[in-house]
Amino acid sequence: MSSCSHSRLIQEGDIEKIAWLINKRSGILIKTSEMTGLRNKVAIRLKALNFDSDRYLKLLTDSGIDSHREWNTLIGIIAIGETYFFRDKDQLNIIKYSVIPELLKTESEIRILSAGCATGEEVYSLAILLKESGYDCSKAKIYGVDLNEASIAKAKRGVYTSWSFRGCSDKHREFFAKTDNTHWVIASSIKSMVSFHTLNLVVDELLHLGYFDVIVCRNVFIYFDRASIQLVLSKFTECLKPNGFLITGHTELCEQNMDKFEVINYNYGVIYQLRSNFSNFRSKDKERVVSSSQSQVNLVSQDNIDMVLAESYYHLGQLDEAQVALMKFLLKDATNYKANFLRFLIAKKQGDTKQAKERLGELIFLYPESPDPYIELIKCLLQDKEYKASSRLLSVVSKLKTLSPQNKLEIERLSSVCSSCRE
Ligand SMILES: C[S@@+](CC[C@H](N)C(=O)[O-])C[C@H]1O[C@@H](n2cnc3c(N)ncnc32)[C@H](O)[C@@H]1O
Repeated sequence: MSSCSHSRLIQEGDIEKIAWLINKRSGILIKTSEMTGLRNKVAIRLKALNFDSDRYLKLLTDSGIDSHREWNTLIGIIAIGETYFFRDKDQLNIIKYSVIPELLKTESEIRILSAGCATGEEVYSLAILLKESGYDCSKAKIYGVDLNEASIAKAKRGVYTSWSFRGCSDKHREFFAKTDNTHWVIASSIKSMVSFHTLNLVVDELLHLGYFDVIVCRNVFIYFDRASIQLVLSKFTECLKPNGFLITGHTELCEQNMDKFEVINYNYGVIYQLRSNFSNFRSKDKERVVSSSQSQVNLVSQDNIDMVLAESYYHLGQLDEAQVALMKFLLKDATNYKANFLRFLIAKKQGDTKQAKERLGELIFLYPESPDPYIELIKCLLQDKEYKASSRLLSVVSKLKTLSPQNKLEIERLSSVCSSCRE
C-alpha cells in the first residue's frame, strides 16, 4: 500500500487527536495549514507499522516501551532540528560582550543551559565563547537538552559535517579536528565543558539539572502554542539564579507576560534578566544542585508521563485508562492539585455525581484557597437543587483573595442562578 492509501486509514478526527497529543507531549503546535503535512507523515508511520489510525492512537497513548519508541520516531519526524555553529552572531556577541563580563563580576562558577539544543552546535558555540573570554573553563558547565534522542546522541558524539559550519569563521574552526574528508570533531577541551541530556521542556522537571546563570532557548518557542510557552517560561523562572539571563529568538516572547524579567535592549536584539526577587535560588541551594545523571532525568520524566497519559486518555474519552494512569501518578504525588482535579473531572464525565462531589470536597480540604473546586461544587449542588448549600458555598468562595476576573464573573452568574431558583 502507498502512503497515500494509508492516509485513507486515518479515520475522521484522528489526525486532530494526534496533533493534540503532540501538542500536549511536546508543546509543538500543529497549525491548521500544517495538518496535511502531519497527515502525510502519520500515513508513512502507519505504512511502516501496518496500523490503522485507531491502533496508532492506542500505541501513542500507551505507557510501554513501544509507545516510548514510537514517540521518539514521531518527534524525530515532526520537530525541526535546524541549527548550525555560531547561529545569530549578533545575539552571541551580546552574550560574549555583555552577559559573560557581567557574570564574571560575581560568579566563580558559570552554569548555562541551552534548551532545545538540537544536535549541539549552539552548546559548543557557547563553550567556545566562554573559552575565548579567558575565563577558567574548568569552572564552567554548559548543559544542552532536547527531547529528540537522536539529536542528543549526535550532540554527544560531537562530529559534524561542513553544513554545520556554514556560519562559522575560520578562527572558530580551530576548535575542531578533521576526522576524514567530510567530518570534523570538536576539541576535547571544549567537550569537557558540556553535557547533553534528553529532556522534554514541557513534561520533565528542569530544576533537577540545578540553577542557571543563563538560559538560551532560541528557535524553540516559534513552534509552541502560547500556553506551552508560559509553562516552559515558568520552569525557566524557577531555575534561573537571581538576575540570571534568558535569551530567546528575536520575537519569540513578544506576546508573553514578562513581568518577572527586566527587558534589556541592545542595538541588535533583546535579552531578559530575571528580577532577583522572583528567583527561588538561595545560596544554600548551591549544594542542592543535583547530579544530572541521565537516569535521574528519565526517572522524573516517567513520573510526569503518567499524568500526561492520564490527561490524554481523558481527552480521548478513554476514562478507565485515564483512571489507571492517574492512580499511578497519585501513588507518587498524592496531593497534587492538577491530578486531584482530573480525578474529579473523570468522575464527572462518568456521570458519578457522588464521587465527583467527594473529590471536590477533598480538593477544598487540600486547597482551601483555590476557587475552582468551590465553583464546580456549587454547580453540582445547583444541579441537585441543593440551593441552601449552594448559597452557603457562594458566600465562602466570594471572599477568597485568589479570585481571577473569570472566577468573579462565574460566581456572579451562579449567584443569580441560585437566587432565581430559590425564589
Ligand atoms: C530549530 S531547533 C533550535 C536549535 C538551536 N536552539 C538553535 O537555535 O539553533 C528546535 C529544537 O527544539 C527541540 N524541541 C522542541 N520541542 C521541545 C521540547 N518540548 N523539549 C525539548 N526540546 C524541544 C526540537 O527537538 C529541536 O531540536
